[in-house]
Amino acid sequence: MESISIGLLGLGTVGAGVVKIIENHQDKLSHQIGCPVKVKKALVQDLEKDRGLTIGDGVLTLHPEDVLTDPEIDIVVEVMGGIEATKEHLLQALNNKKHVVTANKDLMAVHGPELLKAASANECDLFYEASVAGGIPILRSLVDGLASDRITKMMGIVNGTTNFILTKMTKEGRSFEDVLKEAQDLGFAEADPTADVGGLDAARKMAIMSTLGFSMNVDLADVKVKGITEVTADDIEYAEQFGYTMKLIGYAHREGEKVEVSVEPTLLLNDHPLSSVNDEYNAVYVYGEAVGETMFYGPGAGSLPTATAVVSDMVGIMKNMRLGVNGKSAVNPQFPKKLKEREE
Ligand code: NAP
Ligand code: HSE
Repeated sequence: MESISIGLLGLGTVGAGVVKIIENHQDKLSHQIGCPVKVKKALVQDLEKDRGLTIGDGVLTLHPEDVLTDPEIDIVVEVMGGIEATKEHLLQALNNKKHVVTANKDLMAVHGPELLKAASANECDLFYEASVAGGIPILRSLVDGLASDRITKMMGIVNGTTNFILTKMTKEGRSFEDVLKEAQDLGFAEADPTADVGGLDAARKMAIMSTLGFSMNVDLADVKVKGITEVTADDIEYAEQFGYTMKLIGYAHREGEKVEVSVEPTLLLNDHPLSSVNDEYNAVYVYGEAVGETMFYGPGAGSLPTATAVVSDMVGIMKNMRLGVNGKSAVNPQFPKKLKEREE
């Protein structure tokens, strides 16, 4: 291959990070895959917006078809968000034999099975590491690194915005609204932050992690959700007085066939390992029957950390392209049916 061409759907916080990493780490990328990587097209809403990036003439487009049907584009990178219309774009990309990387947990938590089926049918890769815990390679660790183990418990902080808010409310005594605004300015929050503060974003991530970690299909509807909108400054101060820290905790437990998954504000003793995970950082504790306790920690949101996961997925796809094994990689499992259904 002379070069690999990327088409971006979206060029906001994460998309801009992807462009920067491709530009700044081109030597390492080319060395790993044996040819240069270039961004051929990028779908946006506003052609005039100042993005602080060096973008070639004709790269920006308002038309999805320019990305989805361009025969030279090998990999479509979806970093625009949204669910139904975005699903149609990705199905079109896969049916056009383009590999896909997405950071979109809203989409994968709901339509993951259908999209993965389409990827498999087209012998394409569909990778989504960035959809959970930003820069932490947690999905790869669950599927590949812990492939031989039986995971029975996962617990963690998987939403950067709410952790940022709770940290600043606790340590700096700032108001919920003030800190949410800062999280939005820093690009941590979703375009509509309701899903962040209401716990749905964390629930989507817990559904994806539980599905992969427990090797069974865990639906979003199976996750009990409570966000931080009712947490007050008084609650936080009261907790502090008694030696506790308030965190939005995702919890997933499997016992035999039974799976319990929840997201809720939780009081942790100050010396609990998750109590010291601050700002937009995420951490996930994973317990496997053979390995015992493991802990994964890192930035859970933001431009470059999230883009690292996206571009690493791209590298995985490009390596598979060289080997001719796209659609067959271990990091791209089909979402299995619930254990109960499998046995029937
Ligand atoms: P963002 O900053 O709002 O960027 C969205 C981009 O998509 C913008 O470039 C926007 O164009 C474009 N876009 C949106 N709707 C469009 C449409 N209908 N047609 C054409 N272009 C459209 O969002 P983001 O923070 O980068 O997040 C992108 C995705 O990554 C989301 O799925 C999010 O959940 C996920 N994610 C984000 C983070 C994070 O830390 N931000 C971390 C992990 C995962 P304009 O620029 O012209 O407006
Ligand atoms: N809004 C998300 C968060 C982005 O704050 O965690 C990362 O998925």
